[in-house]
Order: sequence, then structure tokens, then C-alpha cells
Amino acid sequence: MDIKILKEAALKFGTPIYLYDLKIIKNQFDKLNKELSVLNDYKIHFAAKSLSNISILKFIRRLGAGLDAVSIEEVKIGLKCGFLKDEIIYTPNGVCIDEIINAHNLGVKINLDSIESINEYCGLYKNPSINLRINPEVYAGANEKISVGHASSKFGIPIKDISKILKLEKEGKINVVGIHIHTGSDILKNEQLKEGIKIIFSIAKKFKNIKSIDFGGGIKVPYFKGDSETNLSNYIKNISIEYDRYRSVTGRDLKLIFEPGKFLVSDSGFFICKVNYLKSTPLKSFVQINTGFNHFIRPNLYGAYHEITNLSNPIDKKFEYEIVGYICEKDTFAEKRRISKISKGDLICIRNAGAYGYNMASNYNSRPRPAEICLYKEKLYKIREAEDLNSLLKNQIDIFS
Ligand code: LLP
Repeated sequence: MDIKILKEAALKFGTPIYLYDLKIIKNQFDKLNKELSVLNDYKIHFAAKSLSNISILKFIRRLGAGLDAVSIEEVKIGLKCGFLKDEIIYTPNGVCIDEIINAHNLGVKINLDSIESINEYCGLYKNPSINLRINPEVYAGANEKISVGHASSKFGIPIKDISKILKLEKEGKINVVGIHIHTGSDILKNEQLKEGIKIIFSIAKKFKNIKSIDFGGGIKVPYFKGDSETNLSNYIKNISIEYDRYRSVTGRDLKLIFEPGKFLVSDSGFFICKVNYLKSTPLKSFVQINTGFNHFIRPNLYGAYHEITNLSNPIDKKFEYEIVGYICEKDTFAEKRRISKISKGDLICIRNAGAYGYNMASNYNSRPRPAEICLYKEKLYKIREAEDLNSLLKNQIDIFS
């Protein structure tokens, strides 16, 4: 995005703010669609957990995507945004049966992820059609926290339980109509993706009535110039090869489903803040910005690298900086980062903040969450007000008043 627009948004709406460029989301959607077009029947379901502002969801729906929801609230937000019930896939983990019943009554597609929840579910309905989230026992993802398809992960149905599910199906207690995997986020190695693909197709052969396979998310996007990214055409080629094999053995067709979060929105998001102070200590010099990991947690939580630029002085001699937030514990956005000379009051931009940025923000240190803005057809729109003191107090109950 043009630096002028980033500065204009900061001037107009103040800082810190999240700014999303809808054109970038559309470009990413088109790019993925183009790659997927080699497959016969497929659908992209946007992972709402990465960015769930209703204006963004409505925009992505208009592009032609469905939704991937992880909570009943995301399901309901999706329905409010106009996604049809059969365009929403709900993949909860370890939620109570009441929430699953709620989703069932709303008519959305549900991926059950344990034999325990399947047993409870099929006790409630007569021969229900169900979808399974499988744990393929593959280690994939950028770091331990977001690698979720390995054998000791809490996610998915362990392979050892598949025979029990086949038995339930044989007894007419359930009808398995779809299977799903999500092995992790930021998956760089195509080998890891390939492993998951092979396993899911081998499991698919066992279920005679399935109509779809869902490959979850995990496509890695580059976080800086020269960073690695998932080789999309390779990824899809691997799926195509396995699918062709599956079809020649079974004679059956499937719908192939993808649930990208980062791929669609990461690059579209810019988190803009301001320099409060340049603080020198005997050992270091810190750039103190007017935000913290309460607003953007990825660097602090995962050690994630996000490009940081000085919007106020973009082309000058570069110095090494430590960029820190105002939170009352270690709160580092970047260490030893070379950035164009920074002065007090400069506007700073943290890039690739669209996915898991605002959606992971909190009120830690009693800080209100910032506003969200989007750029649509060259115009800036506020799509969420910043919180204030009242937002923080709104649901609290004073028993001493
Ligand atoms: N489908 C399912 C079932 C998921 O659990 C996820 C992400 C996705 C799709 C989308 O994955 P993506 O395409 O965005 O990689 N907060 C972490 C990422 C956690 C991902 C959780 N599940 C981060 O900021 O790296």
C-alpha cells in the first residue's frame, strides 16, 4: 500500500490503528482461485478466526468464499454476514455438546473431532450425517504452538479410533459424509503438506459415503522480502495426483475444501502506531511505541518476524533498533532491527498484521483495543470504533456501589 495512504489514515483516525487493504485480499483470493481451478469441484472457506470484522467477512463472502468457524459465535457472525448455512463449516475443539447442538440446529456443517463427541452426538440423532476432523499424525507448522496435527496434539480423531467409527457406521448409527485435516499454520515444507494429503486420501477410501475432503489452512505467506512461502502449485499438484488415484480406485468424486486464513488476509493488514520516546540505557536504546502486545501479540507470543518501517522517514540512514511496547512485562516487537532513522513522534508501520492481529488483541493492562479501518476503492472507511474506558467498564459489576 502507498505510504501516503498509511500516513493519511494515521492522521485521520489517530494511532494505533489496524488498516486493511481490500484490494490485497481480492488479489490473494483470485490468486488462490486461479491455482485451484485445475481441480473440478472445490470451495474456499475463509478462516474467520484470523480476522472476523463483519465488513471484511462480507467482502470475502462477495468474492465467493464460504466460512470456516471455530466457535458458535463465529458461526452466528457468519450467518449475520449473509453466509448461507451450507457455506459455513464449524470445526470446534473440545466444546460441550450444547454448543454442537446449537450449531446442528442452525444447520451448518460440523466437523467432529473426537470419538467422545461422536458417541454423544449420535446418541441424540438418528443416523446423523457427520464430518470428521482427523489427526493425521503429521508434524507441520511454523512453531510448536501452531503445529496441531501431530500425535500428541489435542486436535482431531486419532487414527486408532477410525475402526470404531467405521463400526458405528456399519451399525447404522452414523453416516460419515466428509473428512477434514488441519495440521498447522505457516507450513513451509511441501513434504509436510504432502504427508497430510496422502494420509487423508488413504482414510477417505475407507468411507464409502463421503462427499468432501477439507484440507484446512496452513499455507505459508512471506513475512518479508525474500522470505519463503508455500509453493502453491506444488501443493495443489500433490492434491490433484492423490485425488486422481482416489478416483481411479473408488470411482467417486469429491468436493475439495480449503480454509485459508493467513493466505487471504495477512498481507492486507497494516498496524500503524507512533513513537512515544527513544530511551537510552547504558546497554541499549529502545524505541517505545504507543501500543503493546495487547494489540499485536504475534512477535511476543511466537517470536514472529514482522517487517517494521518508519512511515515518517522511510528513506534515510538505517540504524539498529529495539522496538518495544508499553506493557508491564517484556514486550518486544523487534530486536536489532535495521530501520530508517527514527525520531520521537514518527509513525511506525508493522506489516503483515491482517491475520491474527486484531483478532488476538486483548485488554491487558486495561488498554482499550484500537480502531479498524479499511481501504476500499481508494477510500478509507472506519470499520470498528476504538474502545474506550466505557468499553472496559461496560460489563463489570460493582458490588460496592
Ligand atoms: N482451519 C482450521 C481448522 C484452523 O484451525 C486454522 C487455524 C485455519 C483453518 C487457518 O489456518 P491459516 O491458513 O491461517 O494458517 N494465531 C496463529 C495461527 C493459529 C492458527 C489456528 N488455526 C498465528 O498467528 O500464527
